[in-house]
Amino acid sequence: MKRLVVYQSATGFTAKYAAWIAEELSCEAKELKHISAEAVAEYDNVIFGGWIMGGMISGLDKLRKMNPKQLVVFAVGAGSDNGNVRSNLKTQNHLEETPFFYLEGGLSFERMSFFPKMMLKMMGKSIAKKENKTEQEEEMVKLFAGSFDHSERKNIEPLVTAVMKNDLTCSE
Ligand SMILES: Cc1cc2nc3c(=O)[nH]c(=O)nc-3n(C[C@H](O)[C@H](O)[C@H](O)COP(=O)(O)O)c2cc1C
Repeated sequence: MKRLVVYQSATGFTAKYAAWIAEELSCEAKELKHISAEAVAEYDNVIFGGWIMGGMISGLDKLRKMNPKQLVVFAVGAGSDNGNVRSNLKTQNHLEETPFFYLEGGLSFERMSFFPKMMLKMMGKSIAKKENKTEQEEEMVKLFAGSFDHSERKNIEPLVTAVMKNDLTCSE
């Protein structure tokens, strides 16, 4: 089975997970911007990881257009890992038929470029102003207050195990 990890990362958390996953699976990790549809066609199994922006997995649409044979997706965000986050991401990113994993990343204001940083601050402020915030909104206000790193190598275990056993169901 020829495997490849492809990723899109803005501040490094997804890149770090991609490198860990590739190491465990003994394959290469390549950045999405350095890969072509012709290259993707050479692999039986592509594991794609993208960072989350406003609930959308960055780079996923571009990768899908390359028609990978067997696609596995992981998303890296700032939120904590719970069933709600995963199922919302699945629906929003049309991943009902695709094996999908959520990996908790972090926030790095230091490594963020100007526009994403502004967007995040604006999102944080507008949620903070809201009355009757949902549990998820309360969490976002706390999270968006400063940089943190919740990435841990052990978080990749379910993905690596499923890929190695080729047990790629679409369940949670
Ligand atoms: C503009 C913006 C929007 C974001 N939206 C979300 C979001 O909807 N959900 C989430 O969990 N994280 C969100 N994040 C946080 C990033 O997904 C998180 O920092 C991730 O770890 C970045 O990965 P990277 O280092 O690979 O770029 C957002 C970050 C930015 C800058």
